[in-house]
Amino acid sequence: MSNIIDGKLVSAAVKERVANEVKALNNQGVSVCLAVILVGSDPASQIYVANKKKACEQLGIVSKEFLLPETATQDELLSLIDKLNCDESVNGILCQLPLPKTLDEKAVIAAIDPNKDVDAFHPINVGKIMIGDYDFLPCTPAGVMEMLSYYNIDVCGKECVVIGRSNIVGKPMSMLLLHKNGTVTTAHSRTKNLAEVTRRADILVAAVGIAKFVKADMVKDGAVVIDVGMNRADGKLCGDVDFEAVSQKASFITPVPGGVGPMTIATLMQNTLTAAKRQNNLI
Ligand code: GUN
Repeated sequence: MSNIIDGKLVSAAVKERVANEVKALNNQGVSVCLAVILVGSDPASQIYVANKKKACEQLGIVSKEFLLPETATQDELLSLIDKLNCDESVNGILCQLPLPKTLDEKAVIAAIDPNKDVDAFHPINVGKIMIGDYDFLPCTPAGVMEMLSYYNIDVCGKECVVIGRSNIVGKPMSMLLLHKNGTVTTAHSRTKNLAEVTRRADILVAAVGIAKFVKADMVKDGAVVIDVGMNRADGKLCGDVDFEAVSQKASFITPVPGGVGPMTIATLMQNTLTAAKRQNNLI
C-alpha cells in the first residue's frame, strides 16, 4: 500500500507562505489583485473559478471577477483584456479555459500582458519555461514539483514518464522534470506499447483526461504516481489513475480529489504574488 501525497497539506503550506507575504505587502501599502475572466457557463469552469476566488479571499488577495455571456464576441473579450492590462490595480489576469468555440483561444492568450499572465500560458512565458528562466510557474506542473519536493522525492536521474502533451500540463510538466535532471519521456495517445513505456517510470504523471486510464499493469512496483486527472465517472470525481489497484503497487500516490487540484490553485496564488512584487519593483 502506498503513501498518500496529501495535496491539501502541501497546498496549505504554500498558501500560508503566500498569505504571510501578502500581509507584509499590505503593511507597506501594496495590495495584490487577481482578475478572473469566465466566458459562458461551463459548470466545471464555474467551480474552478469559484475555488480561485475563495483562495484569494483566504490569502488577502483582492479578486475581481468578470463574467461574460456565452455569446460574447472576440472584440468584447479582447477589449476587456486590454482594459485589465492597463489597469495598474490589477496584478494578474486569468482567462478560464476552455473558451466557447466561437472565440480564438490562441489570440486571447497572446493578448494578455505577459507580466500579468499568472497562468504562464503566453508564448513569452512558455518560452521562458523552456529555457529555465521564468517568473511565472506553470500552475499545475509547478504544483506537482512542490509536492515531490515536500515529500523529499528526488527527480535527479529518475525515469520520468508524463502521459499527455497538452500545453497546459503535459509539455510544461516534462520541462520542469527535465530541469530537475529527470530522464523524461512524454507519452501520448499515439505512443506505441504505452504500458511498456509507463512501466519504466520511477515517476509517472498521468494527464490524459480519461477516468481510471492508468491500470496496475502499467505501473512499476514502487513507482511514484501523480494523477493530474479530474474526471466525472458515475457521478463521482475521479482521476486518470485506477487508484484502488495502483495504490497497491506505488510507493507514493496522489488521490483525486485532494491531490494535484489544490496545488494548482496554490501556485496560482504564488504567481499572483510574484506579479504584484515585480510590478512594484520589489523583486
Ligand atoms: N482550465 C483548466 N485548467 C486551467 C488553468 O490552469 N488555467 C486556466 N486559465 N484555465 C484552465
